[in-house]
Amino acid sequence: MNRLLLLCFALLISISSCKKAEKQSSSTINKRGLIAKKAMVVSAREEASKIGADILKQGGNAFDAMMATEMALAVAYPYAGNLGGGGFLVYRMADGTTGALDYREKAPLASTKDMYLDGNGDVIKNLSTVGSMAVGIPGTIAGIFEAQKRFGKLDIATILKPVIALANNGYIITDKQEKRIAHYDSMIRAVNEKEVLYNNNLKAGDNLINTALAETLQRISENGRDEFYNGETAKKLVEFLQKRGSIITLEDLAKYKAKWRDPISFQYDDLTITSMSPPSSGGVCLNQIMSMIEPFDLKDYGHNSLKAIQVIVEAEKRAYADRSYYLGDPDFVDIPMETLTSHIYLQDRMKNFSFKNPTPVDSISHGDIVGYESDETTHYSIVDQFGNAISVTTTLNGGYGSKLYVDELGFFLNNEMDDFSSKPGEPNYYGLIGAEANSIAPEKRMLSSMTPTIVEKDGELYMSVGTPGGSTIITSVLQTILNVHEFELTMQEAVNAPRFHNQWLPDEIRMEPNSFDADLIKDLEALGYIVNIKRTPVIGKVDGILMLDDGTLEGGADKRGDDTAVGF
Ligand code: GLY
Repeated sequence: MNRLLLLCFALLISISSCKKAEKQSSSTINKRGLIAKKAMVVSAREEASKIGADILKQGGNAFDAMMATEMALAVAYPYAGNLGGGGFLVYRMADGTTGALDYREKAPLASTKDMYLDGNGDVIKNLSTVGSMAVGIPGTIAGIFEAQKRFGKLDIATILKPVIALANNGYIITDKQEKRIAHYDSMIRAVNEKEVLYNNNLKAGDNLINTALAETLQRISENGRDEFYNGETAKKLVEFLQKRGSIITLEDLAKYKAKWRDPISFQYDDLTITSMSPPSSGGVCLNQIMSMIEPFDLKDYGHNSLKAIQVIVEAEKRAYADRSYYLGDPDFVDIPMETLTSHIYLQDRMKNFSFKNPTPVDSISHGDIVGYESDETTHYSIVDQFGNAISVTTTLNGGYGSKLYVDELGFFLNNEMDDFSSKPGEPNYYGLIGAEANSIAPEKRMLSSMTPTIVEKDGELYMSVGTPGGSTIITSVLQTILNVHEFELTMQEAVNAPRFHNQWLPDEIRMEPNSFDADLIKDLEALGYIVNIKRTPVIGKVDGILMLDDGTLEGGADKRGDDTAVGF
């Protein structure tokens, strides 16, 4: 009997230690994201990442995969993926050369500074956010063709073939997608005065086919970029818009060009960070914040510790104060870039920082205020088997943009005009208050926060990273880089880690709910910080790729969305 008891005891111990080992090994595996030997695509949808990776497998490079991934997102992630919006590309070639492409939307030729104001000079509600007057000249098709023409290897028909098949054969609606569509359903119906393809009858598990979009993509595949800006698609688009009161003309489309820009590049410790230059504020603000925090020993303070949060928040406040005053389209305004990013200026900006209490926002202010932008944008990162890396953020601005859906063409149109300041000093629909530098003018590009970023370490490719999230884009990218570099998190852990955000005004630290220790929040409040955990359930949805020491790639696909890494 005793022997039997002993046997049972031994068996129990061995089962429990087996379970423990299983758990340990699965948690060790979970710490890293997908590992791939040669190439990887990380985006907001599995279908888009797969199509991008397949293009790489066919011998295409990152710029071919860019076109395929971006268009596949337009099919399977119409919330932000688009033909009717714009974006930014930052790249690093295998030989170390870097560059940036600006395919941000532009204001129509007939636009005016006061176009969203009534006779009394007051902002007309909703005019810059929904419907035809909210739409800027789309840049996405120009952008993907420009990048592919300069650097790509494959022919357009090969690249677009799987995307057209996706639109024709359909893709499965996810749980998150069902909820998003249901949330926006009444707005989309109201703006279009009817039910469109994306409506609240769609349920998770349904297969959604978009034949109109497949036909548009087929014409683009056959006729190239001009199909969108001068061809049948251009005519249909302008006719659709003008019937709905838009000021956009065929001339607007014909004149649109994507523009190569010099990216922002700066050092942080042994990292070289390359990010988007104006008309995005992303690179300038990231540069400013990182230079302001560099003298502090964040690693010693600890990840998401009180002191680390204080330093980061105070640097963010100062950068966002400058952003609202100085930044706009560099083709229209002079930006004092050298001063804004100089060490002397930035150390001076931090000189009144103290761990004892928050620096009052009005003592930082340059004068004007920046508020919230919309959160709905999308980002993808690609590293190809040739060693080229790209980081691309693209947007319609709001979720489903202006909500205007061109059913004959199968896509939504942006509401990017709302990223201008309609009336300097007064908040727009999202609470954004801007300055003269970001006022409306014909053919001007509206200020953005998109921050597609590439990081090098010791001169080698280290990371490609970016995120959606409106004004929280910059601070989410910042925290992801710091999570890896200072706090030694894996790429997957770095994108999943809880995030916080400060943008000078409103005077508050936004923190993701149920993510931070209650004592930490109490400590921040005791110092005088206002903590807001109700403003938004998520801050950013970061996708990134990290080059590991052994030369393999680790994908970080944010757990907050349907984001997926695919590699080989
Ligand atoms: N529409 C969001 C941004 O460009 O920052």
